Amino acid sequence: MTYARITGTGGCLPEKILTNHDLEKMVETTDEWIQERTGIKKRHVAGPEETTCDLAERAARRAMEMAGRGSADIDLIIVATTTPDRVFPSTACLLQKRLEIHGCAAFDVQAVCTGFVYALGVADRFIRTGGAKCALVVGAETLSRIVDWTDRTTCVLFGDGAGAVVLEASEEQGILSTHLHADGRFDNLLHVPKGVSTAYSEVLAGEAYIEMKGNEVFKVAVNTLGRIVDETLEYNDIDQAEIDWLIPHQANIRIIQATARKLKMPMDRVVVTVGEHGNTSAASIPLALDVAVRDGRVRPGDLLMMEAFGGGFTWGSALLRF
Ligand code: UT7
Repeated sequence: MTYARITGTGGCLPEKILTNHDLEKMVETTDEWIQERTGIKKRHVAGPEETTCDLAERAARRAMEMAGRGSADIDLIIVATTTPDRVFPSTACLLQKRLEIHGCAAFDVQAVCTGFVYALGVADRFIRTGGAKCALVVGAETLSRIVDWTDRTTCVLFGDGAGAVVLEASEEQGILSTHLHADGRFDNLLHVPKGVSTAYSEVLAGEAYIEMKGNEVFKVAVNTLGRIVDETLEYNDIDQAEIDWLIPHQANIRIIQATARKLKMPMDRVVVTVGEHGNTSAASIPLALDVAVRDGRVRPGDLLMMEAFGGGFTWGSALLRF
């Protein structure tokens, strides 16, 4: 049986850091409120010339270096992003050019904060069915570009960054299952209400911003993530005690704690980066994975549960042997 196995991870955060104290000078908020309600202490923000593809490239190169793979080995590129460099070509095509890879399939996936799990699920299906042998799967965002920096209910939450994995065909166990869901009826609770075909001039003017009914999103997120971990455990017929690490989407420490409680996992088995990164949308899971791999917490053979929830609504999970 062929599995898709992660053989390398990489991450990239922009140099510039915005602390809660910096935000206190921009909107009516406090470090205390932000930390208590979200767990966030700081976030990284891209420079004016720095793009999603710049961050994606750095993360991808680090993942390829860890995997010991060069450009000639990559035969599929999927980039999960909500903040692409251009309307088109896709960020995946721009990344392909930067890495001097030519000819393989390259495309973006847009599932907002669930984007990386969606991209991983798609790449897993390519590899299992023989359509690819060595895929680059990236989550990359410059969310700071679609944040209204005068709206305290959203601007304290988000950050920029990129994470990447190399996913290879292997006889050894890797991804055991992915579970992808969406329900478009919730579009208005978390969205950028303007887009290319509805309000192009406002998009061009940089006036298309994230809007969220945070409290309502919070409640649906907690319930939905509880259900998706149950679905994943049942599908694989495993007990929650067998999971070594929970690697959740990093939106809010209280949402992460609720899912950990549901899985009866102590917080020291949960990879938490929300305090340092904020919510980096599609980048948050691969960034968290990379941090935990490089600091030696996640080790070969460990059983990992990834889960995410985001705009759409979209939600999904992945269970994998690292
Ligand atoms: O990644 C995709 C999925 N996204 C999420 O999962 C995010 C889900 N939502 C959340 O994480 C939380 O709902 C938030 C962190 C966004 C908000 O926390 P909350 O505990 O749900 O607060 P709230 O929205 O109910 O607001 C409570 C109060 C309000 O004041 P009043 O009406 O009680 O007087 C807000 O106006 O806090 C106020 N508030 C703030 N105060 C200081 C909202 N934002 C801020 C702020 N600083 N930045």
